[in-house]
Amino acid sequence: MDTKVYKIEHAKDGFAPADLEKIKECGEIIKRGGLVAFPTETVYGLGGDALNGSSSGKIYAAKGRPSDNPLIVHICDIASLEKITEDIPEYAYVLAEKFWPGPLTMILKASDAVPRKTTGGLDTVAVRMPDDDIALAFIKASGGYIAAPSANLSGKPSPTSAGYVLEDMDGRIDAVIDGGENVIGLESTIIDLAGDKIQVLRPGFITNEMLSDALGISVETDPALLDPSCSERPKAPGMRYRHYAPKGDVIPVKGDPDKVFGHISEGLAEAGRKGLKTGVICCAENAAKYDADVVRHAGSLDDAEAAAHIFYTALRDMDDEEVNVIFVENFTEEGFGEALWNRLLKSAGSKWEEA
Ligand code: TXA
Ligand code: MG
Repeated sequence: MDTKVYKIEHAKDGFAPADLEKIKECGEIIKRGGLVAFPTETVYGLGGDALNGSSSGKIYAAKGRPSDNPLIVHICDIASLEKITEDIPEYAYVLAEKFWPGPLTMILKASDAVPRKTTGGLDTVAVRMPDDDIALAFIKASGGYIAAPSANLSGKPSPTSAGYVLEDMDGRIDAVIDGGENVIGLESTIIDLAGDKIQVLRPGFITNEMLSDALGISVETDPALLDPSCSERPKAPGMRYRHYAPKGDVIPVKGDPDKVFGHISEGLAEAGRKGLKTGVICCAENAAKYDADVVRHAGSLDDAEAAAHIFYTALRDMDDEEVNVIFVENFTEEGFGEALWNRLLKSAGSKWEEA
């Protein structure tokens, strides 16, 4: 299959007529049961008709993803919640009003309108309204319900540009909408409103503090995510596997910044002696000080947003450069930093070194 690329400009004051035509064409592809990758504010999604089980089947096949790992349904207005969910708690409306459109996914009870292929067999459904004008227009043009996982091959880092989508998906999907680079670069926060306990199943840009403030209750993260030795399994099926992983060995290093610098420098020297190709992901301040083959840097150690923005790109670059061992400095774990640390741990197979 030839994957068509539709380049569309973000538009504050309405889309250009030619872009509107492209959005319409992409909507038609979805209605015919095809797949179109599209930008959101977090990462690129691999979209299909969420209400058509055969489209969801095609998504799993294109990604090489186990079909028991459910998809997020993307909508373009709050009213669309009613068709696909049941027993919507008041909390859901509070969060939707406050954070939608935005990087928050809610798990709710699914209605019969949602094929169980889309929910990976579960009776709950993940729903989000992305904060991206192209995504919203595309969802609307497609009939209002787009199932979309991140548009990477299963196990690869989520794509943060159309070019990265094509690296994984060229020839496997009908089209990709190129809307430039994603603003955030890390997947949405997932909150479970359907389980026994309101809980964050995947940390993201919308932090526990923001959620707690909005709901007036204390919201915490699924404990299985942050403690690899925890006996419980993560509640989001997708958080159970090693994901987001480059081919090289990822080694996060924790501790006092000076010690971390020393520890990584020694690790690089040792890896170099073994003839390994080395990489570092670090704060801007230290970038020039490391003797590594590939260095990717962003902001300061307390700037999780800057680090999250380059994280997946950096991992993909490390693969392109065939780096064998990748050291990563410890950016803040506070606020949005919790999400970065979570993805970093997953890319490292849940291990880190203490400096
Ligand atoms: O930012 C995002 O959320 C991106 C963009 C494209 O919107 N999407 C994304 O989708 O990250 P994906 O498929 O890569 O991750 C969805 C996660 C998986 O871990 C999946 O197991 C979980 O959401 N999930 C989906 N439905 C669920 C459900 N009903 N109950 C529990 N977890 C669910
Ligand atoms: Mg994903």
